[in-house]
Amino acid sequence: MGEDVTIVEVGPRDGLQNEKEIVATEDKLKLISLLSKTGLSRIEATAFVSPKWVPQMADHDAVMRGAERRKGLELSALVPNEKGARAAIDAGAQALAVFASASEGFAQKNTNCSIAESIARFEPVAALARARTLPLRGYISCAIDCPYEGAVASDAVVNVANQLIALGCDEIAVSDTLGKASPAQVEVVLIEVLKSVPANQIACHFHDTSGQALANVDVALDLGIRIFDSAIAGLGGCPYAPGSAGNLATGALVRHLKELVFECGVDLEALAEVEQFVSRLI
Ligand code: HMG
Ligand code: MG
Repeated sequence: MGEDVTIVEVGPRDGLQNEKEIVATEDKLKLISLLSKTGLSRIEATAFVSPKWVPQMADHDAVMRGAERRKGLELSALVPNEKGARAAIDAGAQALAVFASASEGFAQKNTNCSIAESIARFEPVAALARARTLPLRGYISCAIDCPYEGAVASDAVVNVANQLIALGCDEIAVSDTLGKASPAQVEVVLIEVLKSVPANQIACHFHDTSGQALANVDVALDLGIRIFDSAIAGLGGCPYAPGSAGNLATGALVRHLKELVFECGVDLEALAEVEQFVSRLI
């Protein structure tokens, strides 16, 4: 038996937040239900963000309340602030994820505030997560480059990573928002982050614009990282990151991990059924 890798399925959130046509709530619930039958242990179900900013996630409450619960499956919610965290918890979120940026330009465009202000907004979120013993993840967007500022220094990523860990995040998700990172660039930033954050608290979130996401997964695996995000059928992108394409596709990630003899517990046949559903949906 190979070593375990955890996949965090972000399709219902990162995938559907970027679709021009807003997907009906009942289809989102069907998608999560199908995903929950594949053996995945973590699904990011929706985002409790402002519906004025991301109308695609405006039904977050109905999605979180209606999503199928399954033993061994954690349904998480992306939240930008206390308001989102309270609503997510009320709706039954089993984990929370805050999102910071390593670049000021993206922080402003995506959350209308500076990096420091975003971290301050996460403090009450972290307190709520602690009080409810809910796992808390902290994304770091633009860990390689930024659509508004170009190259991002590793120091900036390390700085945000340390702040998120100090805040109480159980895990940070080093994110290549634009999906154009090379394996060499990913290696540089991960080596720096690993100097202060242990591998078991690091996840990698790769968009796949340049087709390098699997090569980037390999770099992270070599460095001991065992948590990876992906989206069913390669859905995904960020409305505030022009040029960002889909996330690494879950099927491609699962096949790759199986070839490398890592265990991720996901059934490819069940996944194919979800892919067919998505292709009819989108
Ligand atoms: P703001 O306009 O500066 O906030 O937005 P505000 O506090 O002034 O509030 C304005 C209005 O929003 C108010 O309503 C608030 O109640 C409401 P009004 O009085 O005008 O009717 N509001 C909310 N409503 C629902 N849920 C909330 C919430 N908070 C305030 N949580 C804010 C600031 C952060 C809210 C806004 O900028 C926002 O929602 N941004 C989210 C953008 C987003 O979702 N981007 C995509 C996700 S991040 C991503 O994709 C990257 C990632 O995948 C990793 C990677 O790939 O890099 C994670
Ligand atoms: Mg993303």
